Amino acid sequence: VKIPDEAVPLPPFTKLEYGVPFEDLNERFVVSDDTARSLARTYGTPLYVLSEAHFRHRIRRYQAAFKACWPKSTLTYASKANSTLAVLAIAYDEGCLIDVASEGELRAALAAGVPAHFCHLHGNFKKADELRFAIDAGVDQIMVDSFEELACLRQLNRPLPSLMLRLAPGVRPQTNSKISTGQDDTKFGFNIADGSAARAVEECAAHGMPLRGFHAHVGSQLLDPDAQRQAGSLLARFAIDMLHRGIEVQEINVGGGLGVRYLANDAPMEVEAYCQLVVGAVQDALAGTPLMNSTLTQEPGRTLIAECGVTLYTVGPVKTVPTDTGTRTYATVDGGLSDNPRPALYGGVYDVRKIGSAAGAKDFTIAGRHCETDRLFSDVSLPSDLKSGDLLQVLCTGAYNSSMASNYNRFLRPATVLLREDGTDVLVQSRETYDQMFAREINPFKPHASI
Ligand code: LLP
Repeated sequence: VKIPDEAVPLPPFTKLEYGVPFEDLNERFVVSDDTARSLARTYGTPLYVLSEAHFRHRIRRYQAAFKACWPKSTLTYASKANSTLAVLAIAYDEGCLIDVASEGELRAALAAGVPAHFCHLHGNFKKADELRFAIDAGVDQIMVDSFEELACLRQLNRPLPSLMLRLAPGVRPQTNSKISTGQDDTKFGFNIADGSAARAVEECAAHGMPLRGFHAHVGSQLLDPDAQRQAGSLLARFAIDMLHRGIEVQEINVGGGLGVRYLANDAPMEVEAYCQLVVGAVQDALAGTPLMNSTLTQEPGRTLIAECGVTLYTVGPVKTVPTDTGTRTYATVDGGLSDNPRPALYGGVYDVRKIGSAAGAKDFTIAGRHCETDRLFSDVSLPSDLKSGDLLQVLCTGAYNSSMASNYNRFLRPATVLLREDGTDVLVQSRETYDQMFAREINPFKPHASI
């Protein structure tokens, strides 16, 4: 895997100081009006904008919080949240390992300059070729998800990296059911309750496979982290059960999941309290056993990057229509489902702000450009003079937007700009072109010209 030719190394990031530069790094990143206008002029909209200072700060704060409760700790960045190469390079530069959930994500990490031995391979169905590629590249760990995968690993006939068994601890977090994974009824991992997890451990031992530890990820956007506390405790207790059977592991990985502030009133736990809660649960269970020497790992994605990004849109038609109970005003933006599928998929809600002067306030339904009855953001209060040509910024789009973007309706995927701490900006992902979009296609009926 080569770093793309056009990659220009960024100058080192030197001036990050806590609590200073252009805004409070503990708040959600918001683009100033002037910067938004200038970025929209230069790069067009829709545009993803990321703050490097926020991202570095959030990683450092998480690492410090985690280390304070468990010195032998490792922070892994879950790259599915945003695998833009510049983002991966920053996470690595800040000392994170990288969680990759496919060969594609692994190749992205390698292309970003992350050594394979900083990568952990996840996935509930890893194909043999994918496992072979990852092992030959030299990944640090593979999170094994099934008995079939254990068999496949043995059949590959090569020295294996450290294996972590992904476990389903049987806890049900308070979050959207589509991003809840810790319950017994899940496709992920080995169930503790039905004995599968213990059988997987025995199988590793019987075949001399390099079992390093246990992993669980119970869900995402956890605003009530109790499930995470329970999962930590169950994982640790399982590790002790295995110790009693003569198998001592070296690492426990409690996954990611901490929620973020999509809306101003969302109140996820502060990362310091969260680490104390989760680590405390593990500690209570492991106290007095040799497992207190284990490495403890967390692999957050969303909480590290979501609040560091915004999306800029240009407003198009604004129309007021009659409804059963009165009227509704739609403001259309030049993006939608294809750059942010979260409202449609999970009922995701966002904080939407107008760039520039604000007069009065009125409820708008923000709609996208797609041929769907999609209400991108419902009941958003915005200045009543909102009109075509205005710019909007949507906060907290750094995670699961760019990485989940599609070409539905043949819209081009947006560019991403990184705002550096000194206020300069750098394009880190260009807007897709139509040539790129059509490059994969073979039309057997009529050769297509470049458009
Ligand atoms: N580790 C594993 C094994 C995971 O499956 C995930 C997320 C994470 C870590 C990171 O979780 P986080 O800290 O970001 O919550 N597309 C959905 C989110 C899917 C999360 C999948 N797994 C959304 O937009 O809400």
